[in-house]
Amino acid sequence: MSPEASQRFLVTCALPYANGDLHLGHLLEAVMTDIFVRFQKLRSNQVLFVCADDTHGAAIELSANKNGLSPEQMVYQVRQNHIRDYAGFDIGFDLFYTTNSEENRRYAELIYNNFKKHELIVERETEQFFCTHDNRFLPDRFIIGTCPNCKAEDQYGDVCEACGTTYEPVDLVKPRCYICGKEPLIQKSRQLYVKLDSCSSFLKEYVENAGVLQEEIRNYVRNWISQGLQEWCISRDGPYFGFKIPGTENKYFYVWLDAPVGYLSTTEKWCKENGKRIEDYWAPESNTRIIHFIGKDIVYFHALFWPLMLKNSGFKLPSSIVVHGFLSILGQKMSKSRGTFILAKEYLQKVNHPQAPEYLRFFFGTKLMPNTADIDLSPDEFISRINTTLANNFGNLHHRTMVFCERYFDNKIPDQPWDQQIAEIVEEAASEISGHYEKCEIKQVVEKIHSLGSLGNKYYQDNKPWESVKTQPDKAAAVMVTCINLIKAIAVFLKPITPGLSARVERQLSMSFSWEDYRFSLQNKALGPTEKLVKPLEKEDIENLFPAGEKKVLPQKEGLIDIETFKTCDLRIGSVISAESIQKSKKLLKLQVDLGKERRQIISGIAESYTPEQLRGQPVVVLTNLKTATLMGHKSEGMILTAQNADGSVVLIQPQKMISSGAKIA
Ligand code: MSP
Ligand code: ZN
Repeated sequence: MSPEASQRFLVTCALPYANGDLHLGHLLEAVMTDIFVRFQKLRSNQVLFVCADDTHGAAIELSANKNGLSPEQMVYQVRQNHIRDYAGFDIGFDLFYTTNSEENRRYAELIYNNFKKHELIVERETEQFFCTHDNRFLPDRFIIGTCPNCKAEDQYGDVCEACGTTYEPVDLVKPRCYICGKEPLIQKSRQLYVKLDSCSSFLKEYVENAGVLQEEIRNYVRNWISQGLQEWCISRDGPYFGFKIPGTENKYFYVWLDAPVGYLSTTEKWCKENGKRIEDYWAPESNTRIIHFIGKDIVYFHALFWPLMLKNSGFKLPSSIVVHGFLSILGQKMSKSRGTFILAKEYLQKVNHPQAPEYLRFFFGTKLMPNTADIDLSPDEFISRINTTLANNFGNLHHRTMVFCERYFDNKIPDQPWDQQIAEIVEEAASEISGHYEKCEIKQVVEKIHSLGSLGNKYYQDNKPWESVKTQPDKAAAVMVTCINLIKAIAVFLKPITPGLSARVERQLSMSFSWEDYRFSLQNKALGPTEKLVKPLEKEDIENLFPAGEKKVLPQKEGLIDIETFKTCDLRIGSVISAESIQKSKKLLKLQVDLGKERRQIISGIAESYTPEQLRGQPVVVLTNLKTATLMGHKSEGMILTAQNADGSVVLIQPQKMISSGAKIA
């Protein structure tokens, strides 16, 4: 076992963007990270596990606009939802913070100032789109046009979603302002760049350090470096939701400058709240192991920009960057139009099973390896993975053993020696399993656990305790002692993956496991009441999770929906009973709307276009089956449909003739 003293870890997963809810892809990463963290904690190592929302940038500002919220309001709301959804899957962050914080501003400025001090910042003149109508520079997400490569229309200014090519906004064919649709001008603007190439020898050396990168990733990064690194533009013209760059007129840090800084600032926040020193984590001489878990799309930022930022400001460098692949659904990239874009909260609502969250954790566990292979979720495999290992193997061993002890041994672990051979097999398995956990080879952890379950069932079967209990009860008793100790070992090994399931075994044995508890130790002890450990996963439990029938899964032209999808929107005629403004909000109004049979409160972002007086008595179109939301502390039960003018003002959609409230729109 581990004779070394307890180690200290700082572990993170990538900071999700604050412009939407978490989906199962985010969860894949969070589960992988959480399993590693829980394993280290189980081994009595000190682990700080932090994450935060990545709150800045054009995409966030844009979705806030769309939702009629200020960026601050949206970021607040989204963070609450993220915290709730992660908790729903037992992701055990010590702190989930935000990059829109004073700590983060301070560290971003510090890192920038150190770049300047080391003469790594240059100013260059660039060409940038400017909308004279909206009187602003247009960052990538505020500009759309035709992809210069594949000619797909309506692509953003940074990357084409159809062919994956990246380009500069000025490369777009027929560019338009996203806000007003008008053609923007090209204007000169000065931007700040980091001279990455002059640091390439440091980076080259860094990525060669043992354990920093997986081999396949290291090869990529080596190539990037040897091809010559481009200067990195770290400024954007205002207005931009982010931190102003000190010493500039109207420039802001590009979101990817302050995003990874969130790892630092979140650590600091946690240290402040818990009486700890940030130096113990981020000072270069600290012996904390810093481990970042990320998806394969953001390697460049983490393997090149981030170490450079840290190095230049005298912080410790990451010990390890663990890169995983992407989650696909039914063999395809998650897609909204195909109905395979599964949000975390939808999963929790739609899977009709009390163990739904830990079954997803377990399923991911059966697949996760420290490589960038994609991981697919489909109903048949999901069910078979759960039932094969959890229900039919481990669950079965637990059930038959506990029922037997209840029936023949007064619900006690008998007073007999266990089978030493089995204890030794477990001892060996423990060192293999911990080796796999250390390397994030979770799939192999699960395989090993499965083989222990099979061993237990075979042992039970071969020894026929149901026969020996009548003739040689001591022999049957020894079988039970052995099986219960094996069950305990498996529950210890499973604890990082399915903490809830292991907790039920802990309760039954009146224990709280640490890693060493895999060792056989139980004899002559009362058992707690048997709880059914594993309820098999049935087809019906998950039938609402995936799009129905084969038809919908067929590739469709991106962006098109079928009539069934449209019909899921319950649109009805309503009538505004009353309207009032909401304190501190320029955009929102609180409306009471009559829907015939019922009355709803709806918060609508129309205050800049209508006064409360103008709205009273107006017919409106209401989306009634929208999930209830809370906006600035007010409940909103639906959405009122409006159309947007070129100048951003909105107009209510209304019926062309008188029609009674509650009438359905189809
Ligand atoms: N905000 C940046 C990360 C900043 S870290 C300083 C970002 N956010 S994200 O929300 O787009 O993605 C967050 C993480 O989720 C990334 O590691 C990303 O690779 C991962 N995933 C996003 N979609 C995914 C799947 N479909 N499958 C698995 N992981 C996925 O990037
Ligand atoms: Zn415009």
